[in-house]
Amino acid sequence: MKKSQIAFCALLALCAAGRVHSAPADVEARVEATLARLTFDEKLGQLWQFSGGQPSEAASSDRSKGTLDPKFLEAVSAGRYGSVIGKRGLENYNAIQRAAMDGIGIPLLIGHDMIHSATTTYPIPLALACAWDESLWERTASAIAVETLALGCNWTFTPMLDVALDARWGRIAEGGGCEPLVTGLMGAAMVRGFQGADMSDGFHIAACAKHYVTYGASFGGRDYNAVEMADSTLRDVYLPPFKMAVDAGVATVMPAFHSYNGVPCSMNSYLLRDILRKELGFDGMTISDWSAVRELLNHGVAGNKADAAVLALNAGIDMEMVSDCYVTTLKAAVDSGRVSMKTIDDAVRNVLRVKYRLGLFDRPTLDAAALANAIDPAANRALARECARKSCVLLKNDDGALPLKKGVKVALLGDLAANEWQMLGCWSTRDLSNFANATLLAGLKADGVDVNYVEAYTLTGRVDLAAVEAAACGADIVVAAFGDYWENSGEGNSSAILELKGDQMKVAEKVKSLGKPLVAVVFGGRPMAFPDLAKTADAILMAWNPGGCGGWGLADVLTGLAEPWGRLTVDMPYATGTCPLYYSRTTTGRPAAITANHPFGHRYTSCYNDAPFVALYPFGYGLMYTTVEYSGEKAVVEGDSVAFSADVTNTGAREANELVQVYVRDEVARIARPRRELKGFKRVALRPGETKRVEIKVPVASLGYTVDGRYAVEPGGFSAWIAPDSDSGRNLHFEISAK
Ligand code: NOJ
Repeated sequence: MKKSQIAFCALLALCAAGRVHSAPADVEARVEATLARLTFDEKLGQLWQFSGGQPSEAASSDRSKGTLDPKFLEAVSAGRYGSVIGKRGLENYNAIQRAAMDGIGIPLLIGHDMIHSATTTYPIPLALACAWDESLWERTASAIAVETLALGCNWTFTPMLDVALDARWGRIAEGGGCEPLVTGLMGAAMVRGFQGADMSDGFHIAACAKHYVTYGASFGGRDYNAVEMADSTLRDVYLPPFKMAVDAGVATVMPAFHSYNGVPCSMNSYLLRDILRKELGFDGMTISDWSAVRELLNHGVAGNKADAAVLALNAGIDMEMVSDCYVTTLKAAVDSGRVSMKTIDDAVRNVLRVKYRLGLFDRPTLDAAALANAIDPAANRALARECARKSCVLLKNDDGALPLKKGVKVALLGDLAANEWQMLGCWSTRDLSNFANATLLAGLKADGVDVNYVEAYTLTGRVDLAAVEAAACGADIVVAAFGDYWENSGEGNSSAILELKGDQMKVAEKVKSLGKPLVAVVFGGRPMAFPDLAKTADAILMAWNPGGCGGWGLADVLTGLAEPWGRLTVDMPYATGTCPLYYSRTTTGRPAAITANHPFGHRYTSCYNDAPFVALYPFGYGLMYTTVEYSGEKAVVEGDSVAFSADVTNTGAREANELVQVYVRDEVARIARPRRELKGFKRVALRPGETKRVEIKVPVASLGYTVDGRYAVEPGGFSAWIAPDSDSGRNLHFEISAK
């Protein structure tokens, strides 16, 4: 395969920035000089990430506090580890690096999962994706980077670039949703934010693109499960975000836990050497996932730790996370010729290269004062509030139920409405001292709302209907928290039931039976199936896990202090059984349509007989407090690009921030293609009554696909839609001619 055969080359034209760091000219020479002075054991040390050596108070909730065991520091000095995992605090970071520099003279990579939180907690990545805002993604990553350093880490295992089509998969919370372009743009922006223009400037950290690759397609949405997939799907859907992260200069890549077409990603040389290194041009370091090298035994492809080490290293895993197959067995593997010395040296080179690029040799310790100076907790909280505002998605708003009118009496119900912990999300800091009391209740009060809070029910428990009734009767409008707890999404949290649990619908029905308007604020780390709530509630705001300042951001939207901004980057299903569900599904020979006579689609077409096969709310969807109209849509081929344009008019009474989206379909292709694919988007601000002509240029080169191992744009007819979501818009047509 040549690079030019990778499907997404043209998507990259949409990704504004190039590499974010340029390696100093002498990096390679310094890598060679360092490598040359290492003993074999020291080389193996560089290939291990150790999970022990936690501070003495590691058992407490805050692992960044406490002192280090001198024996651990001795091992660091002796070069037993190339890296350690876990935050140990800035003083301990400096102690580790001093020990390393005084000993073997090679500083450590110190990594931790700062996914959407180091000290300040931002919304989960799935929520952040719904902001469709590269600047916001970059600013957030940059703020997390400085806080990460202050906690004593120089490396984060983010961004997660797994395109996720299946809401049952709990890790859908950790990425950008079901769309390669959005996921890739967000990933690249986060790499730029974490690593800065110069990763070695003392205020940035190394990023890690994970989980390479296709993890989001695990069978049945079950975590760690196997994946079988056509090469064309790998290339057209799952690789593009990784390509975009590599082009943004991501320092490290983490292969996924699962097996791809039978070969675990941790020993998959096709993925790691042929594609990642040769095609994508990645020259950083790879790290296995947690004990994934030893797990090759569980996959049934290695008989013992020695086999596992040989398979993983030869396939291209440079550093082993946690398990110790490399350090305990590779000496014998080299002696017996199963692994070459060159393979070991190349892996060490990759590790050293990242350490040099990160500036660790020149600045091994952190400057506490400079970092403290660079962190403005109030600014970070303001950013977290902005993120929460921009991530939530208004799904329904009948009769202008929202924004809350000035002076109305609000009854606020549900345990989640007054629970700070539940705002956080799957990878948040657990350090309670960082919390900012940003519940929905606190946010509404701070925004001046006359609010009466009554718990009345918990999400999974029983409802006190008398309490619901009393609260509702004493109010003009009811705002109630629905959804799921964040602990039910994220890693190891696959779910076979996405419907609302407990008595949540009884609450909704009770409120409606009293004739009171109901605003449902739905929390959760994944798309959920709530068709009944969608019928019953007057308004629905999808809040996700909005982070440590979440309640404030949500309140800003509910009260209208901020306009709704978020648009879905996943499809919301009618029922769990319709998952995996994604707007870009492949066309079929018997396409289904939903009509008045056939609410689920006609029998003998590709549908279910007991639930709609389409989304309850589709990808790209999200309302504002105003309305817009599209007219004069055009798709005109102009040389190497297609210019999509439309007049967009704000027909309502409030400001609009319309997200104009472009979808394309190849009308007659050599293989069945997605019914629509997102090719571009632009946010446009419109005053009431204002019209703007919006133009989005899409490179022709991005309109192709992979077939027979070759990526090509085929001449012929294309359909296009310039639309506010993936289900609407007028069908346009344009032709690509043969060159
Ligand atoms: C396992 C997870 O799959 C990965 O995402 C994470 O970075 C590592 N553990 C380290 O915590």
